[in-house]
Amino acid sequence: MRVSETSVDIDGRQMVVQETGPVDGVPVLLVHGFPLNHAMWQNQIQGLDPPGNRFRVLCPDLMGCGSSGPIDGETSMQQIADQLAAMLEQLQVCRPVVFCGLSMRGYVGWQFLQHHRDKVSHLIACNTRAAADSQIVARGRRQIAISVLQTGTAPIAASLPEKLFALRTAVPGESAPGKSAEYRLIENTIARTDPDTIAKLQRAMADRPDATPMLNRVVVPTLVIAGECDVITPPDEMRTMAAQITGAKFACIAGVGHLTPLEDGPAFNALVTEFLAGVGSGEAG
Ligand code: MLT
Repeated sequence: MRVSETSVDIDGRQMVVQETGPVDGVPVLLVHGFPLNHAMWQNQIQGLDPPGNRFRVLCPDLMGCGSSGPIDGETSMQQIADQLAAMLEQLQVCRPVVFCGLSMRGYVGWQFLQHHRDKVSHLIACNTRAAADSQIVARGRRQIAISVLQTGTAPIAASLPEKLFALRTAVPGESAPGKSAEYRLIENTIARTDPDTIAKLQRAMADRPDATPMLNRVVVPTLVIAGECDVITPPDEMRTMAAQITGAKFACIAGVGHLTPLEDGPAFNALVTEFLAGVGSGEAG
């Protein structure tokens, strides 16, 4: 499937977006986690809907990440949601999107839903939570924001991937000991991310609001996807979150950690395809 790259102007800075599928397809917006880029969705950009051609898959590098321009000043979950809405307008995406956000971009998803409700048809919340940080976690994030500017990204690139992957997907079978290609991809992505981006996103996550009170007001069809071995957003916490959203479906992918779409692309794609069955084949979606 052909992947095209577009860039849009967000307040004078370029946001780069990877796109596949027909322009009149059901728009599916894939929003990457911290501090990654579109590459974590490589299994979905190519494989979400190869035969059906129903989906217009849009996969941005958020500001400060991948090939997009730097973050201007400080940022927040709401500002990132507003930038995504502006991107959709510039790409003339006229119909509501399937918003699929992982982890930190799940935090953005709650803001997107709150401030751009008319732009959302379905919500897929992957490996994320609605609650704000505890004081201890927020303090830890502010400390990381200080240290990454002093030491660069090497310490985070060395330590964070271990928490993102389950052992099974980090290290392939005995015949090929060592880190998996996906693990190396994530290590390299983190190492290449601007320390300024990491600092600003850590502060933005520390300051994010508690989205728990809005869960019982979510009215779009929702799928919550967890990873069985996820230590950052554990499946039990996600199951409890899903139970607060009327009609939400909950699924837990076996044997994977925090990066479900990358660690088990076929299982992830099957869940999304089943959730969106019928959407785009006649009705408005
Ligand atoms: C992410 O994957 O986006 C981060 O782990 C989220 C977080 O640090 O809370």
